[in-house]
Amino acid sequence: MSAQDITLDYTNMLGDAVGEHGIPEGSFSGLAERFAGIHSDVVQRRESGELGFYALPYQTELADKIQLFADTEGQKFSNIVVLGIGGSALGTIAMQQALLKCNWNELDLDARDGLPRLYVLDNIDPATVGQLFDRIDFRTTLFNVVSKSGATAETMAQFLIVRQKLEALLGEGYRSHLLFTTDPSAGVLRELAAAEDIATLPVPANVGGRFSVLSSVGLLPAALVGIDIRELLAGASRMLERCDTDRLEQNPAAIYAALQYLAQTERGAPIHVMMPYSDRLYSIADWFCQLWAESLGKESDRSGKQVFTGPTPVKARGATDQHSQVQLYMEGPFDKTITFLATRDWDTDVAIPQLYAQTGSLSYLGGHTLGELLDAERVATTHALTQRGRMNMTIELPRIDAHTIGQLFMLLQIATVYGGGFYNVNPLDQPGVELGKQLTYGLMGRTGFQPPATDSTTRRRIL
Ligand code: PA5
Repeated sequence: MSAQDITLDYTNMLGDAVGEHGIPEGSFSGLAERFAGIHSDVVQRRESGELGFYALPYQTELADKIQLFADTEGQKFSNIVVLGIGGSALGTIAMQQALLKCNWNELDLDARDGLPRLYVLDNIDPATVGQLFDRIDFRTTLFNVVSKSGATAETMAQFLIVRQKLEALLGEGYRSHLLFTTDPSAGVLRELAAAEDIATLPVPANVGGRFSVLSSVGLLPAALVGIDIRELLAGASRMLERCDTDRLEQNPAAIYAALQYLAQTERGAPIHVMMPYSDRLYSIADWFCQLWAESLGKESDRSGKQVFTGPTPVKARGATDQHSQVQLYMEGPFDKTITFLATRDWDTDVAIPQLYAQTGSLSYLGGHTLGELLDAERVATTHALTQRGRMNMTIELPRIDAHTIGQLFMLLQIATVYGGGFYNVNPLDQPGVELGKQLTYGLMGRTGFQPPATDSTTRRRIL
């Protein structure tokens, strides 16, 4: 173990700590042999090139190229706008929140160390998109269009709007304000880039959207705003080393996946809450929710049998949700696990002054810091949940920096792949989102299914 390593404390997932609603030690250790088989299958699939995200920490040449672009061409822009959705956006948002100063885009140039603002448009709400496009100066903006498939309706709609506005403003110069991050050889964006001479970066063909944060999808925007991408990759590669064992109790990703799987299958707890006690880590929970849900929520298992399986990830925020969801976690059904994310070191801490000491009721706060208070609330919530028989575990970062965030991304990605092994589903596909896409195409006038016509006499609706 190194002082930079993140830790996983899973004591409170086990029956010894939480009683009858916890996982019996025997069930956990009983998965060791099964895990060894899952690990060996993962190694094989990794070696055959199926699990491309494992190779991302070692792409030093690409990282150098991205860094060079970010330090030179990239710094000619005041704004970076990422157009993307799902796996093409959530990792970048998570890094922005974890690794940049708070409210980055509101800071002046000096406070941003001369680096550009970063906007990630991960939706198509016309108010969000329209108001941002009205506000920013397109002449000083780089638009990074991120789509592995190059076909996602939301991203392509944003792109069409941007493309027209750029050309109207800059004529042929529109090209230098666009950079496509997409599949190396296939898809519309790739074709457009070739036809119109637009700069591109590749998303390896064997890296799916939700596993792509450490590819050029996340690395380019990160480097443009000064995040240390080499440290990010070094952290990820450190976690790869730690997970390079088929011994369940020595492999942090395996422990995470096995315990969550057992919680659902043996303890009736399919809801997996991730609760960071740090605003900076909150969007990591969002990123994780997509990864866990889209990878493990499946109708069919690997043999094609209908199983309708998968955990339900939920995000909560400490301490805010102590005044909201925690009541349910403490006293509601025993159908959840809670994973706390914590940091040992607050980069910025704020002292609480000793005022009104004579009144007594506020004197316990004075002399401490906000970081101490937030941490005390986390520790207290952990103990309270444990006393009430509620399974919980804690992932602790020595501090929040590019290295530990790289570790965390890799830990949860590997855990997801192992989760696929335990649930016996393919974690890399997402067939369930197809029907909705086809229906959207139909409604927008492109070929595809049409939603069934509704008979107004059978519709149940109230004014
Ligand atoms: O994880 C996934 O595959 C999805 O969430 C995709 O990232 C998302 O649908 C966007 O796809 P694309 O990058 O092809 O535009």
